[in-house]
Amino acid sequence: MIRDTIAKVGEEVKLRGWVHVRRDMGKLAFIDIRDRSGVAQVVLVPGELSERGKVAMKDLRPEFCIAISGIVQKRGEKQVNPNSPTGTVEVLARDIEILNAAKTPPFGLDDTSNINEELRLKYRYLDLRSVRMVKNLVLRDNVIRFFREFLHNEGFLEIETPILTKGTPEGSREYLVPSRLHAGKFYVLPQSPQQFKQLAMVGGLERYFQIARCFRDEDQRGDRQPEFTQLDLEMSFVDQEDVLALNERMFIEMVKAVAPEKHITETPFPRIAYADAIKKYGNDKPDLRKDKNDPNELAFCWIVDFPMFEDDGNGGIQAAHHPFCMPNPEDVKLLDGDPMKVRASSYDLVLNGYELSSGSIRIHKRELQNKIFQLLGLPDDVIQARFGHMLEAFEFGAPPHGGMAPGIDRIVMILANEPNIREVIPFPKTGDASDLLMGAPSEIEEERLEEAHIQIRKNS
Ligand code: AMO
Repeated sequence: MIRDTIAKVGEEVKLRGWVHVRRDMGKLAFIDIRDRSGVAQVVLVPGELSERGKVAMKDLRPEFCIAISGIVQKRGEKQVNPNSPTGTVEVLARDIEILNAAKTPPFGLDDTSNINEELRLKYRYLDLRSVRMVKNLVLRDNVIRFFREFLHNEGFLEIETPILTKGTPEGSREYLVPSRLHAGKFYVLPQSPQQFKQLAMVGGLERYFQIARCFRDEDQRGDRQPEFTQLDLEMSFVDQEDVLALNERMFIEMVKAVAPEKHITETPFPRIAYADAIKKYGNDKPDLRKDKNDPNELAFCWIVDFPMFEDDGNGGIQAAHHPFCMPNPEDVKLLDGDPMKVRASSYDLVLNGYELSSGSIRIHKRELQNKIFQLLGLPDDVIQARFGHMLEAFEFGAPPHGGMAPGIDRIVMILANEPNIREVIPFPKTGDASDLLMGAPSEIEEERLEEAHIQIRKNS
């Protein structure tokens, strides 16, 4: 790769990449050739070039895709560029092959911070060539790779779960997928693999994780996308302390490994009861940084003792996290008389004012799970239709289990000091859930609708 030229003085190299900039100096020309790893300066001297090289030299413009052969030379002291990692060398070109020409790009790739975001998203494949995006995606890769390795070392199995599934009710609207083979029936895309990971525990897999794509048809914000990625994990035979300890260790080691320039404000991470957080900070994701202007400060905290239920706004109650959370054992006796006072064995990990992760110890017995559904106001036939499979699974020796699910996009956003998660997702959607590059969502031909047994309503 291009950054390796620094170590190849005197050698002949072949570099492939894009023309980053071109500077003409009379008969000579300089270009910076760029690939994912960086840029190198190339000197073009007609007398040193092959015949096709001479012709190509005239044509080269920014973003042409090229291959250049040449000799790596040390630069004279005055020519050294201290701002470039390859600033002590340059390549004297012998041959240039134009692999593909390029139209003039709709925006410059040097500094994209002031470029209209919709334009960047429409031409995301160009935007991805910018230093900013490469940096963010390399960081994302490092974060994911770290988690995979860490969890494998802790005895976790990476297990895939279905994307076409049945509703996993966690509070958001679900994306629907019509079934062709079952007229009038639908799959939904999972909001998270919640039920599958619990069923994997019933299946004796004991320690599960997945880099899981989740889908939620909800209003977008800077830290929300319709599809996003969780580091989903679940463990058997654990209590809340075990889950918090493992995750805390994982995050501390992750920061050391992938973002050593960052410092964590306080370890062990402070733990704050939900009620205290609301009283003291007015919200359940306090920003505990000591210096809000320090780009390298990471203030983690745990929020614990969430209420089990909350007001649903229509005179009923709903699960504060999801209906599978285990009530705090001390509060189970309140379920019948005073359910709003019941605390759940659930927890959030908060970082710099963002909710990074949620999780809980789960119910693993049929009776208690059924009781929670009833408290949520679900009639027995609805409970059976929606959750019969979970209730039945709990009757076959389901082990005690719990877990959590850190949001990968938010983690990388904060580590990269980016203002929103779109900057750390290769192909994100806009605020109205559109993909400007592909043009999704789009209309579907009548025949395909018919196959899916779908008729579009007028006026909707
Ligand atoms: P929850 O719904 O709290 O829990 O999600 C867990 C984490 O996922 C991230 N997140 C999102 N990131 C980007 N865009 C979104 N729309 C979005 N929604 C959520 C957040 C959040 O903390 N199954 C449970 C977890 C469990 O109980 O184990 C769940 O999904 O970082």
